[in-house]
Amino acid sequence: MSDSPYALSLEGVTKRLRGRNVLDGMTLRVPKGETFVIIGPSGTGKSVTLKHMIGLMPPDSGRILVEGEDITTASPEQLDAARTKFGVLFQNGALLNSLTVGENVALPLREHTTLPEDEIRRIVKEKLAMVDMAGAEDATPDAISGGMKKRVGLARAIVREPQIILYDEPTSGLDPVMSNVINHLILNMKKTLHVTSVVVTHDMGSAYLIADRIAMIHHGRILQEGTPKEILQTKDPVVRQFIDGSIQGPLTTEAA
Ligand SMILES: Nc1ncnc2c1ncn2[C@@H]1O[C@H](COP(=O)(O)OP(=O)(O)OP(=O)(O)O)[C@@H](O)[C@H]1O
Ligand SMILES: [Mg+2]
Repeated sequence: MSDSPYALSLEGVTKRLRGRNVLDGMTLRVPKGETFVIIGPSGTGKSVTLKHMIGLMPPDSGRILVEGEDITTASPEQLDAARTKFGVLFQNGALLNSLTVGENVALPLREHTTLPEDEIRRIVKEKLAMVDMAGAEDATPDAISGGMKKRVGLARAIVREPQIILYDEPTSGLDPVMSNVINHLILNMKKTLHVTSVVVTHDMGSAYLIADRIAMIHHGRILQEGTPKEILQTKDPVVRQFIDGSIQGPLTTEAA
């Protein structure tokens, strides 16, 4: 265990993909127990940033620390140990259609633990209840709605009681009511499990509601970071255009 105040930090991370510096000296620090929201235009490296945090993509240079431990110099065993601290909610839920909802949620326990079947069933039931999907064990993923899939994906992400949860676009494609259900689940995870969360989103309503801090990525690094209030009052023309969704502005000129 480390006494680092940060659950996660990226220190000057550079990553070149397809001839472009997608991450270009990215430095960010996520305090323990907080919800850190990453915003930014499409293709700016938000998902790539999440992949670096969990060690799925190695940086070209720079360091990535998980609870103060450098995972860029870690052995495969240390990296595995660091990964057990994470739960990840993928954009589309990433459920396996060949398995039932219950089997999907149980998968990380079956793959990584030797818990007995009745204990696995108990934990799955408990996690499905936490996301308001009690009794859905025997449903198949193709028979449930998009919002339900996200909730089942979240149950699977928390099944091993992670300290850090990464969410990639948790509310995209959902109606406003279901988006709010997911927002409140994210708030609840923080309150009841005291997890650290990193949320990538385009949904500014969600960002303002759930974030302790919001960081906008632009040109491979953080352009501005602050509390929702500070971001709402931004004087940076790029951040301003992005959060207002204005057609006119520096982002449009760049894209042209
Ligand atoms: N595995 C990969 N190999 C090569 N290039 C990649 C890879 N993953 C991402 N990229 C490139 O890196 C850039 C950033 O991608 P990323 O998926 O992080 O964007 P994003 O900010 O998450 O966008 P979106 O909002 O559309 O999800 C893109 O140009 C993408 O093509
Ligand atoms: Mg993405």
